[in-house]
Amino acid sequence: MNGQQSACRILGVGVATLDLINAVDSYPPEDAEVRASGQRRARGGNCANTLSILADLGHPCAWAGTLAEDDGADFIRADLSAHGIDCTHAVHCPGGTTPTSYITLSQATGSRTIVHYRDLPELTAAAFARIPLESFDWVHCEGRNPGETCRMLGRCRRESPRLPISVELEKPRPGIEALFHGPDLLLIARAFALADGGSQIAADPGAWLAAMSQRTDARALVLGWGAAGAWLLERGGSPRRVPARPPERVVDTLGAGDTLNAGMIDGLLRGLEPLDALTSAVALAGIKCERAGLEGLAEAARTLRTL
Ligand code: FRU
Repeated sequence: MNGQQSACRILGVGVATLDLINAVDSYPPEDAEVRASGQRRARGGNCANTLSILADLGHPCAWAGTLAEDDGADFIRADLSAHGIDCTHAVHCPGGTTPTSYITLSQATGSRTIVHYRDLPELTAAAFARIPLESFDWVHCEGRNPGETCRMLGRCRRESPRLPISVELEKPRPGIEALFHGPDLLLIARAFALADGGSQIAADPGAWLAAMSQRTDARALVLGWGAAGAWLLERGGSPRRVPARPPERVVDTLGAGDTLNAGMIDGLLRGLEPLDALTSAVALAGIKCERAGLEGLAEAARTLRTL
């Protein structure tokens, strides 16, 4: 799974969204009317966020996903292109609407509350089949649309058995188990683990990860755990936790998980051992939480010498 090159070509499969972000002093109660202290529009989406950070870290990236034919799609395409991300594999869906997230960002805690609306078909395995795999050193997929994504993983395994694959498990979805077999690396969010194992697993996330490793043939599993850092389990080993450095102030947690995933993929592609890759990834996610947005993360991490 480890690569040795510093700049590797990464194909990301997943969604890109339009994020409309309102900053509020503190999170409002239901049925309240409050004034936002700031507002911004950003290109979001787990896969697109991860790719934009990987691109800033110096990796040539390509995005495969679907786009509507509206202003939101133009905004997304322009933003990805500005990051140097190749969008030639994006599929346009006439009649669809750009997936849009309405996000309330609390300045008191840095928490982000997301209301997401989507009315756009997902990328199909047939569209994925047209992408030449030999152009890539790594494929990263969001764990969504399990039936089609499973067929994509199958194609990768058949045609390019040595191509490293990571899959993000963010939320439980019907049939998601189909994606447990095939990837080399599973990048698991706390929300997935809690939904799968129940809130009692918070007492020992490493034990849940050890049980999860029995359900997959992935060689490494990462479980993000917010302020408590992240857990790593390598096949045949025992779970290890990488603690997070307490941030001076949590400003914005939007995309922190996507940042952790980018940091992990980057570290492995740089040839780091998985534990060192995760250490670097946790530091990158911590830096993200201390600042607004995702821009300039790579530079900040270089300045702080955490890369
Ligand atoms: C953050 C994010 C946002 C997007 C939402 C999609 O992780 O990718 O950018 O709106 O999640 O679920």
